[in-house]
Amino acid sequence: MCGIIGYIGNKEVVPILINGLKRLEYRGYDSAGICVLSQNKLETVKKKGQITELENELIGRGINGTMGIAHTRWATHGDSSVVNAHPHLDCKNKIAIIHNGIIENYGALKKILEAGGHKIISDTDSEIVAHLIEKFYNGNLEEAVIKAIKYIEGTFGLVVICESEECIIAARRGSPLIIGIGDDEMFVTSDASAILEYTRKVIYIKDDEIVTLTKNSYDVKNLNGNLVNSEIQEIKWNLKEIEKAGFKHFMLKEIYEQPHSIENTLRGRIRDNKIKLSFDIDPKLINKIIITACGTSWHSALIGKYLIEKISGIETVVDYASEFRYRNPIIKDNDLLIAISQSGETADTLAALRVAKNCKTLGIVNVVGSSIAREVDFGIYLHAGPEIGVASTKAFTCQVTALILFSLFLRQELGLELDSKLINELSLISEKINSILDKADKIQEISTNFKDAKNFLYLGRGINFPVALEGALKLKEISYIHAEGYPAAEMKHGPIALIDENMFIVFIINRGEIFEKVISNMQEVRARGGNIITITDCPEDEMIKKLSNFIISVPQTQEELSPLINVIPLQLMSYFVADAKGLNVDKPRNLAKSVTVE
Ligand code: G6P
Repeated sequence: MCGIIGYIGNKEVVPILINGLKRLEYRGYDSAGICVLSQNKLETVKKKGQITELENELIGRGINGTMGIAHTRWATHGDSSVVNAHPHLDCKNKIAIIHNGIIENYGALKKILEAGGHKIISDTDSEIVAHLIEKFYNGNLEEAVIKAIKYIEGTFGLVVICESEECIIAARRGSPLIIGIGDDEMFVTSDASAILEYTRKVIYIKDDEIVTLTKNSYDVKNLNGNLVNSEIQEIKWNLKEIEKAGFKHFMLKEIYEQPHSIENTLRGRIRDNKIKLSFDIDPKLINKIIITACGTSWHSALIGKYLIEKISGIETVVDYASEFRYRNPIIKDNDLLIAISQSGETADTLAALRVAKNCKTLGIVNVVGSSIAREVDFGIYLHAGPEIGVASTKAFTCQVTALILFSLFLRQELGLELDSKLINELSLISEKINSILDKADKIQEISTNFKDAKNFLYLGRGINFPVALEGALKLKEISYIHAEGYPAAEMKHGPIALIDENMFIVFIINRGEIFEKVISNMQEVRARGGNIITITDCPEDEMIKKLSNFIISVPQTQEELSPLINVIPLQLMSYFVADAKGLNVDKPRNLAKSVTVE
């Protein structure tokens, strides 16, 4: 999510770190900072905004040295501000850390550290690590880091320096870290693009490994302090390829990130079959829930209605933010308004939130510290990481995940029993998504058949009707092919008139109560010569085989979670069609990532 670079060698460190940060800029960030061992003292400078602002801030400060660390932050805990930017320091300004990832138990650790007299000044989870290392520091930084990380629950890519030792310590669990090996100089980074101009010789650090770097040595150890063998690899990619982690486009990279980003949304929020969300909402006092959003976020809102009503029994209505804000909606004091937004800055969603002055509000937002996140009473952050592709993918699946968690939370707080099978299934969902991603080649092969198509219909029912809408939106956005989503049963009230041999119809059909009904809809399409692409968890069904021109099989799951599975082939299909047409997938014409005007 954030960017890390560290250097130890003989060269002046500040330009190397600033250069590295600039290379990491493509990931999106909100603040940056640097810490250098300069004249035997740790000198730290942090700045909100662009790297050039940090660079300007450093002019004339006389900070120089040959060892230092730097970080670009994309906020996860705590708003974007100088105090929350990394590096973070211990109480005596003698230990500095930079951290990527999420410290799940930071609340508990903070209490212990504060009781021990530590002064924690930021709202971040990361600062805790500097104080934890301070607590264990006894003249050996490596030992102190090993002790500290034994107390940490969650994920980290961690880099640490201290005033009294000429070395860099780095450790990883679940967040990437790479060592770069130069001549009498060593680098550490979260992303090879930051060091590529200096070296192509790298070691990929594995989970629960800790590395000590001096300018001419690297020791990789396990958490017991024993040396482990690590292989030096040669980077063969060019810079552009590295930024996209080898993917051709950010959109494809973000589609592949979904198993991981969903895990980040879930992280720390389910324990012992209980849902842990950090707010106090009493569902017994809620009259109804109103969800408002735009674009893809509106589609997850529609899924949210289905989930909340089914799981908690609380009435839920959904409105486009742009409509809601202008139609004098009826909002009771004991209603709850939910605003869903990836960016947290969409003008209509923000305005809709401001209409709901008399009731409590909840934000489901990806960008920490964004306007919507700041203005709501309660919030669930997605922790999906920056989404760069204009067509939203991982934010959508993380929003649906957050809505599943919230629905379960409401049920739990109503005193009703939670479905442990559903909770267990949620823990398997990333693996199931991975099994679809593993079959991307097949989906690509099928997709090449559609590059000259002019019209598509996407049909689904129940909780998968919004998935049909999302599939159609993805195709429109990046392939410029006209596509409409419809509830399958509504087809006979209009769209059926459009069906002929030039029409492509995507059916989303899962086992369950309405299986046969959707089969009938498929028959109606087939009888009129339409071409059927079927997304299904029962590809072996004889009728499906008979009626479909193309079948994309997906793993089975519980109905409530099926949007998370069914949307993946639809995202891939739209991506492959757009790519086959040679279109600019990451920046489709006329669209903006964040629409901050009406
Ligand atoms: C734009 C984007 C969409 C997004 C919508 C809502 O139209 O292109 O991908 O779904 O805005 O954005 P939000 O940030 O509020 O989720």
